[in-house]
Amino acid sequence: MTGDQPFRIGVLGSGKGSNFVSIVEACEADRVPAEVALVLSDVAEASILERAREHNIPARYLAAGSFRTKLDDEAERSYIDALRAASVDLIALAGFMRVLKGEFLRAFEGRIVNIHPSLLPSFPGLQAWKQALEYGVKVTGCTVHLVDAGVDSGPILGQSAVPVLNADTAETLHQRIQAAEHELYPRCIAALARGEVTVQGRRVVVGKAGQGQHQA
Ligand code: GRF
Repeated sequence: MTGDQPFRIGVLGSGKGSNFVSIVEACEADRVPAEVALVLSDVAEASILERAREHNIPARYLAAGSFRTKLDDEAERSYIDALRAASVDLIALAGFMRVLKGEFLRAFEGRIVNIHPSLLPSFPGLQAWKQALEYGVKVTGCTVHLVDAGVDSGPILGQSAVPVLNADTAETLHQRIQAAEHELYPRCIAALARGEVTVQGRRVVVGKAGQGQHQA
């Protein structure tokens, strides 16, 4: 946070927006000292846009262009412009189904976070809960990390473990992971908003100076 200005978050999502809701509710309840300034989606009918409007947060569909998994150059510029115009301090990806590249990463270097539904570096990529179930691990979870040029590869801010139960289906496991996400993501964002996060290469140290180190 800088001076008296509230810490401003821009959220990017393509889907239902349950993580967005957990962030905005945490802001509204003062558990996160920040406000969501803008929500952008590459999917016109994504529920996340509706959820944002319910919370009176500016929400816009911005076309992604001609590629399936990334923004084209023009789209990238429109996303950058919208987020700059909203003066965001942090960009939180919440189910945004496009890989962010070059110019976007440079524009907001070190200020983009993502939540991934596994204990990284295990199971990066799509449907990580299904990958975990099929692999047969007994514990999986979720990870909040800084975004770099790789896929789910940036420095880790926080993780939460979730058991895999014998009776689990992909759906029940995904639900349990999402419940953990809704607790972890706001907690990590709160640490960032409070300036309690120091990045030392790959290692991210979370905690107030002199109070030891812990994960968000
Ligand atoms: C979450 O499970 C997150 O891990 C992944 O995308 C999903 C988004 O869900 N990156 P929601 O739209 O926040 O409900």
